[in-house]
Amino acid sequence: MSNLLTVSEITKIYESGKRKVVGVKNINFCVNKGHFISIIGPSGCGKSTLLRCIAGFEKTNNGKISLNGRPVTKPGPDRFMIFQGLDQLFPWLTLKENIVFAMRVVDKGRENFNKKAEAYLELVGLEGFGGFHPYQLSGGMKQRASIARALSVRPKLLLMDEPFGSLDAFSRRAIHQMFLKVWQKTGVTVVFVTHDIEEAIDLSDKILVFSQGKLKGSIENPLSRPREKDIPAYRSFLLKVSDFLDEECDGCLRLEEPSTVGAKLAF
Ligand SMILES: Nc1ncnc2c1ncn2[C@@H]1O[C@H](COP(=O)(O)OP(=O)(O)O)[C@@H](O)[C@H]1O
Ligand SMILES: [Mg+2]
Repeated sequence: MSNLLTVSEITKIYESGKRKVVGVKNINFCVNKGHFISIIGPSGCGKSTLLRCIAGFEKTNNGKISLNGRPVTKPGPDRFMIFQGLDQLFPWLTLKENIVFAMRVVDKGRENFNKKAEAYLELVGLEGFGGFHPYQLSGGMKQRASIARALSVRPKLLLMDEPFGSLDAFSRRAIHQMFLKVWQKTGVTVVFVTHDIEEAIDLSDKILVFSQGKLKGSIENPLSRPREKDIPAYRSFLLKVSDFLDEECDGCLRLEEPSTVGAKLAF
């Protein structure tokens, strides 16, 4: 399988006034075409920063990101990001219009995209809902529509930042099953951020573990698909990943230079 995404020695430092905060530091990894990888770690460990760098939303201080051998310097339709928030669609457009809008922006032709938009809605289990507005849908349905819109522009890489984090357990389970089928059918490459270990195990081929802005290790998922939870192999893999997180992970804020905050506090 060929390599699609290469992240080499990426460092992102945020500057606010005199303080420098480490987003991520010296990150290296590759993702093969068609693979599904998850990034896990506690809040504040740099997961979103890394995703935003890959999307081209952030300028890095050091390192190189390339997609299909081409350097990533700015956002582009070859990478589509899906966020945790449930309101990512244009609220004044119907679902079908949301998808057609995205397809027209990327493909400037005069093609009638309506049929294609319906096909993408069907792919995510929303057939018949093309005429609905986002406010008429549940959170899970809105995330499905966001996935349909993302896939409709045929990105090479889907970047997902805790996309199911705001959903209830039932909607989550259903959307996991749907999304895995869609991933297998489309062959799209996925980089998926979560702080939920089971979600990472259920969905991905490989798990990258982050702590304090650094990549602590990567663990291949040994479980075959579909993933059954009620087997010893699942439980032992869950333990392995949990142990790794317990040992290594901390999501505390990191300053690039020694902090002067608190130095003048008098008690
Ligand atoms: N725009 C920003 N300006 C300054 N610091 C930021 C900014 N975005 C993130 N950070 C800091 O970078 C670190 C990593 O944040 P983030 O990537 O959002 O972590 P995660 O997604 O794992 O919760 C945190 O310490 C956070 O406070
Ligand atoms: Mg985040």
